[in-house]
Amino acid sequence: MSAPAVTAPGAKVSDFTADLVVRRRSAPAKDVVLLDLSHSNGEQLPSWEPGAHIDLLLGDGLTRQYSLCSDPNDRGIWRIGVLLDPNTRGGSRLVHESLIEGATVRVRGPRNHFPLVDAPRYRFIAGGIGITPIYSMLRKLQRAGSEWTLLYGGRTKASMAFAQELLERYPDRVTVSPQDERGFLDLNSYLQHPEEGTLVYCCGPDSLLSAVEASCACWPEGTLHIERFAAKGPTAEEVPPALENFEVVCHRSGVTLAVSGNESILDVLEEADVPVMASCYEGVCGTCETRIIEGVADHRDSVLSAAERDTGEVMMVCVSRSCTERLVLDL
Ligand code: FES
Repeated sequence: MSAPAVTAPGAKVSDFTADLVVRRRSAPAKDVVLLDLSHSNGEQLPSWEPGAHIDLLLGDGLTRQYSLCSDPNDRGIWRIGVLLDPNTRGGSRLVHESLIEGATVRVRGPRNHFPLVDAPRYRFIAGGIGITPIYSMLRKLQRAGSEWTLLYGGRTKASMAFAQELLERYPDRVTVSPQDERGFLDLNSYLQHPEEGTLVYCCGPDSLLSAVEASCACWPEGTLHIERFAAKGPTAEEVPPALENFEVVCHRSGVTLAVSGNESILDVLEEADVPVMASCYEGVCGTCETRIIEGVADHRDSVLSAAERDTGEVMMVCVSRSCTERLVLDL
């Protein structure tokens, strides 16, 4: 039996938006910067739970999501880690070049699509910058006296943020496994024996997530919780029969819009000035989650779990489409 990955059930979208100041900037690994963000007047920031991320609104419509990796108990600082992505479309480069100490950045959130679910035991797997949401989870679990272990991989130790710090803090629980020294992560050993009650959390590049999904195939259903950096494209088997052209009825706004094959629902909504929030435009952040009143969505996001899709209650309008000629949305 496969163990389908679980993402968060319809995480609440926070209305909090503010200009925060970069209080401190450091470089904990090659091509990674850590930014501590706070209010200029020292005011408290909204509370958050491990796994949450915030949006950086970088101007000209450029928005990027970064996981919070500070201590959730510290309401004065939000810390994020940003990897300079060689394939960047501008976001991480802008952060690396512009967000120096004292700079101001517009921030929205936090939101959590990767929450820590209560369990007797946890196994964590992090790849590269995927350590950021997991680090805040470890702090919380350690404080609660929970049972956990971490397998942490990266290309080289120098590229792995927090590697030394984690080893020093939790020597009995953390295995750091740089690829240039030890090869690929030994998932077979780490996940060899399915354990009832243990949850597996993984964040990292798509190749790692796919490998972990395969290794967890014989674990109990609901074991695996993952967070993707980028949208996972649907496989041919996963794509239900979708319609090229369909109609979207915005129930509250009272407008009906035609969506054709070369545009997204979100494109059409924005063109028609129907109020809808969006951030990643790739189906990974959950910002554009919209309630479905009538019709069947063709889900193409990486946020909703299979179970959530099956309920047919919500959809991500930035990437998902329709299997019915008419889709009535709560907009
Ligand atoms: Fe991010 Fe739609 S805008 S999921």
